[in-house]
Order: sequence, then C-alpha cells, then structure tokens
Amino acid sequence: MTTRVLVTGAAGRIGRAVLELLAARGDEAVALERHDPGDLPAARVVTGEAADPATVRAALDGVDAVIHLAAIATPERLPAEQVFGQNTLATFTVLEQAGLAGVRRACLASSMAADGLPFAGRELHPAYVPVDEAVPVQAEDPYALSKLVDEETARTMARRHGMGIVALRLPYVGGFEERLNDFAAATAADPGAHARGYWAYLETRDAARACVLALGVPGPGAEVVCVCAPETMAGQPTAELLERYHPGVEIRAPLPGRTVPVDLSKAERLLGFSAEYRLQV
Ligand SMILES: NC(=O)c1ccc[n+]([C@@H]2O[C@H](COP(=O)([O-])OP(=O)(O)OC[C@H]3O[C@@H](n4cnc5c(N)ncnc54)[C@H](O)[C@@H]3O)[C@@H](O)[C@H]2O)c1
Repeated sequence: MTTRVLVTGAAGRIGRAVLELLAARGDEAVALERHDPGDLPAARVVTGEAADPATVRAALDGVDAVIHLAAIATPERLPAEQVFGQNTLATFTVLEQAGLAGVRRACLASSMAADGLPFAGRELHPAYVPVDEAVPVQAEDPYALSKLVDEETARTMARRHGMGIVALRLPYVGGFEERLNDFAAATAADPGAHARGYWAYLETRDAARACVLALGVPGPGAEVVCVCAPETMAGQPTAELLERYHPGVEIRAPLPGRTVPVDLSKAERLLGFSAEYRLQV
C-alpha cells in the first residue's frame, strides 16, 4: 500500500534524501518548506512555517505519516531564543496537528548533540561509553535544549493522541562528497575537534532510511533512538581516542578497533537499522 508522508524541512540535507527514498519506494510525499526551491520530488509542496497550525493542517491533507525535520540545525547562527523557540514550537505544532488529523505515525530528528557535549562552551565528558539513549544530559546550549524538549513533546503527543513517535538522535550527517570526506580528513588531522561528537557520522542516505524505518515502529508510545555508523570517522583506535580525549571515562562494553562509542543496539532492535554507507578511513 502506498503511504503518503509529510516531510517537513524537505529542502534540507536530510529532507531531500528522504524525498528521494520515498519516491524510490513508491510512496507519495508532501513537502513542507519555508521556500520552494522548485525541484523537490514531491507530489505537493506547501510553503510556510512548520510552527503555523494552518500551514501544517493544509500540508497534512490525506497524509498517513510524518517525518519532521524542519529545524534550525545549529545554535551558532541565530540568537538563542530563536533556535530554542523556532525548533520547539515547530515540533509541537507539527505533532499536535498530526495527532488532531488522525495521523498515528511520526518520526522526528533529534540529535546526539542533545546530550549537551558538542555545543557546550567548555569541555565536557560523557558519564560513560558507549553512550546510549539514557546517558545523563549536560545541556547548556539552546539547540541541545530544543532537541530535549522535542523528545519530551514526542512523549506528550504519544500519550495525548495515541501516536507512535520515534525521535532519532542523529550524529554528524552528510554526503561523502558534500562534506563527510572533508570532515573526516579534518578529524584525522585533529581528532580532538570531534571528540564531543564521539567521532560519529551517518551518510545522508542512511539518515533518510532510518527516518523511513522509524515509521514502521509499532505504537502507541514514544522512543528515542541513537543512530550512526558503527565505526568512527577517525583513523585511530577508539580506545586510544577515549584515553586521550575523555580520560577516565567509564567504559561499559568492549570497543575494538574503530568501533563508535555509541550503543546502536536499540536502533538494530527497534528499527532493524544498520548503516550501509561507510567512510573509507
Ligand atoms: N545534518 C546534521 O548533521 C544533523 C545532525 C543531528 C540532527 N540533525 C537534525 O536533522 C534535521 C534536518 O537536518 P538537515 O541537516 O537536513 O538541516 P538543513 O538545515 O539542511 O535543513 C533544514 C530545513 O528545514 C527548513 N526549516 C527550518 N525551520 C523551519 C520551519 N520552522 N518551518 C519550515 N521549514 C523550516 C529549512 O528551510 C531547511 O531547508 C534537523 O532537525 C536537524 O536539527 C541534523
């Protein structure tokens, strides 16, 4: 059966890959974006604000499931109030309107940065590795806080509307040529620069596949799931990197070779997801 999926933030890096994957599967997509770039592979493009209920209602017409990606994806380019306010209001509005419209399946993009490390103004270390969905949060920046609130909004909306919602904690996402290869080269030269992101990455097409797989998780209920490639983008063994950049961190499971210090067991169990596109390091 063809599914009709609303994709918010559809012109963005991950949104475009989601539209392409849905088209390849024979699913229909409705795109919601601030500006229509004119080349989105979607049956319908709705332009406007994901935080505007009327716009979202129009976009939801005939839709079975939602992939919500629209967000300011960094705290570094806009005032803190806008990053927090825009992201959290968009997520609330999209899930609330979806619930009211009878949609029962949604995926939203959270971030591995929700734990607070990547954008903190000082050096922070995780309580333990491999980090998992329960690792203690140390957020000090508006982007991390917006993603934590988004995850709580997902739990609330799952109860309020009986929805099944998966919030994916995504790592650094990119295409190989677009930015992954360059970032991997920079990380090889200076592994400390990506230590707070656990040297993790996900190729854009894998991120899109995780989003689509998330729509298949049976509800109702809300789940937070970490997804990334199983190896780091760094050249050095993970144990050496941890000793140098997160000294003294509690190591709860063996991390042989370049194993990413992120627990991917929930992604495998719940989504049946493992990354296909791997960096040649
Ligand atoms: N790319 C990454 O490395 C990464 C990592 C972790 C999490 N994420 C999350 O994944 C999602 C998608 O990331 P991306 O890299 O594709 O981002 P992107 O910046 O490439 O695309 C985001 C798109 O959303 C649109 N948008 C933003 N706010 C909107 C709003 N309120 N209403 C309508 N449209 C809006 C923008 O116009 C943009 O086209 C975001 O939620 C981001 O926080 C991304």
